Amino acid sequence: MSKKGKYIADEGRYDKMKYRRTGNSGLLLPELSLGLWHNFGDNDSFKNARNLLKCAFDNGITHFDLANNYGPLPGAAESNFGKILKKDFKNYRDELIISSKAGFGMWPGPYGDNGSKKYLISSLDQSLKRMNLDYVDIFYHHRPDPNTPLEETMGTLDLIVRQGKALYVGLSNYQPKEAEKAFKLLKKLGTPCLIHQPRYSLFDRWVEDGLLNVLENSGVGAICFSPLAQGMLTDKYLNGLPKDSRAVKDSPFLNSNQVLEMLPKINALNEIAKNRNQNLAQMAISWILKDDRITSVLIGASKTSQILDSIKATENTIFSDEELASINTILK
Ligand SMILES: NC(=O)c1ccc[n+]([C@@H]2O[C@H](COP(=O)([O-])OP(=O)(O)OC[C@H]3O[C@@H](n4cnc5c(N)ncnc54)[C@H](OP(=O)(O)O)[C@@H]3O)[C@@H](O)[C@H]2O)c1
Repeated sequence: MSKKGKYIADEGRYDKMKYRRTGNSGLLLPELSLGLWHNFGDNDSFKNARNLLKCAFDNGITHFDLANNYGPLPGAAESNFGKILKKDFKNYRDELIISSKAGFGMWPGPYGDNGSKKYLISSLDQSLKRMNLDYVDIFYHHRPDPNTPLEETMGTLDLIVRQGKALYVGLSNYQPKEAEKAFKLLKKLGTPCLIHQPRYSLFDRWVEDGLLNVLENSGVGAICFSPLAQGMLTDKYLNGLPKDSRAVKDSPFLNSNQVLEMLPKINALNEIAKNRNQNLAQMAISWILKDDRITSVLIGASKTSQILDSIKATENTIFSDEELASINTILK
């Protein structure tokens, strides 16, 4: 930070982070990326949102992940991000990988949801306006749409790249078979899929059942969301339910009953983490990073201290067979 209050990024930022190649592409992504699903809406502190982004970038996190509907209200995360870009990151655009998505309900009527050309083109135009950008680095189809021909959705992703509105395209929440079909279509069109964004954590291991192999064989990267199961895979709930936590605040996506149900497993995993000289959040992240098919782990954070804490996970991503076996026993 300079004297006048203008943000100047930490000069040592690129020594603090490791970068992995995204599939067969030319693009490197940081081992940790920051998502703006929560904590960047209109009900959140703008000052805190600015600090989160600066803290991430100062530590080599070059990738920020958004979607048309992140808020509240839907669109607010992109608008707030656009304001912060203008204030703090004007000189750093070429050092950032910014992604957005469309695929969930965004506006009323038949053209504000799913996977049609009409929806995806309009939605990306709106996202670019909200963020005040000429292009995003990655544009995702957010979830599969069984009622739109895959050719139409993939053709639209290809068009968006040819129009210069996105540099790369990705898919999120696609199952292995539909992902494979989509990758083939995209390749044929000349816009290979860069990356797939699935949920993956100690508590949700569906990607191990085929998807990661498909990604590896297709030369497509993997960026995993909710690696901490929205905060459950941390030590924050071990001694009760903190008032400022996602489970207690008004998130429709995590509630205190879900946390209480998982508490025995959380406690047991915490013991393994301690023996590794990590806290649970760090172990949960390094457990994902142990697999070199993974390009990046996409964290969320409500406090800068959480980003600083989670980054330490990259220092120890090797697990012994005994540790892995104990983890598997707990998760059975
Ligand atoms: N493609 C999709 O369909 C999809 C879906 C969901 C998410 N995503 C992406 O993935 C990103 C991450 O998702 P997520 O927010 O669910 O990820 P997460 O990393 O599993 O959870 C983040 C939450 O965990 C807590 N936390 C983080 N670091 C911590 C630490 N070191 N110690 C203690 N607590 C910590 C914080 O909760 P508190 O708020 O309680 O402090 C934080 O808000 C999103 O922002 C979005 O970009 C994509």
